[in-house]
Amino acid sequence: MAIDGPSGAGKSTLARMAAGRFGLIHVDTGALYRCVGLYALRRGVSSKDAAGVTSLLPEIDIGMRHGGDGVQRMFINGGDVTDDIRLPETSLCASDVSALPSVRAFLLDMQKEMANKYDIIMDGRDIGTVVMPGAGLKVFLTAPPEIRAERRYRELLGKAVDTTFEEVLRDMELRDRNDSSREAAPLTTAGDAVVVDTARIGLEDSFDLLCSIISERFGL
Ligand code: DC
Repeated sequence: MAIDGPSGAGKSTLARMAAGRFGLIHVDTGALYRCVGLYALRRGVSSKDAAGVTSLLPEIDIGMRHGGDGVQRMFINGGDVTDDIRLPETSLCASDVSALPSVRAFLLDMQKEMANKYDIIMDGRDIGTVVMPGAGLKVFLTAPPEIRAERRYRELLGKAVDTTFEEVLRDMELRDRNDSSREAAPLTTAGDAVVVDTARIGLEDSFDLLCSIISERFGL
């Protein structure tokens, strides 16, 4: 099944919880774009430099492993980058590189292969529209930018990242614009997606709602 939506809507957290409940493999595809963004950052290549980023792709070997705690650990050429890909500067680079058709093509095969191989719950921006257009269930999770930024801000504070709410909100609105306005696989609601607005409901209620949608759709 596919879960799409803007950043901070709760996709990854809810998808991970649902994977645990229904025995599915969870793949957070944003982490793949974050790996490419981080690699460009580390190599000193601007994330807006299409030719430069494209030339790096053959050097990037992205690995993914699920720990016992359900956390999806990410590796670039064998090095663990699970924490580094979450840093704010990596988020903007990830959004930039995700607009490049070469990067999307590079990551699409990997995602399609995983989708074909496993009973999967995949979250991202174009899962229901491009990666798994035939998914048995598509959910579009959303909430207003201020609420999503507040959640992300608390998460970053918990990791002792030095930032402000205003900074997080500004970055989030910038990413929303980038992700929705790009030509290649923009963030958009699939026509057959169930839209869930998490603005007024907390995590537990959002999870209950998601579980009931899944149970109803698959007769579980
Ligand atoms: O979900 P996230 O915030 O970790 O994703 C990081 C960036 O990757 C985000 O700005 C948009 C991009 N992305 C994408 O274009 N397509 C996906 N399927 C997942 C993420």
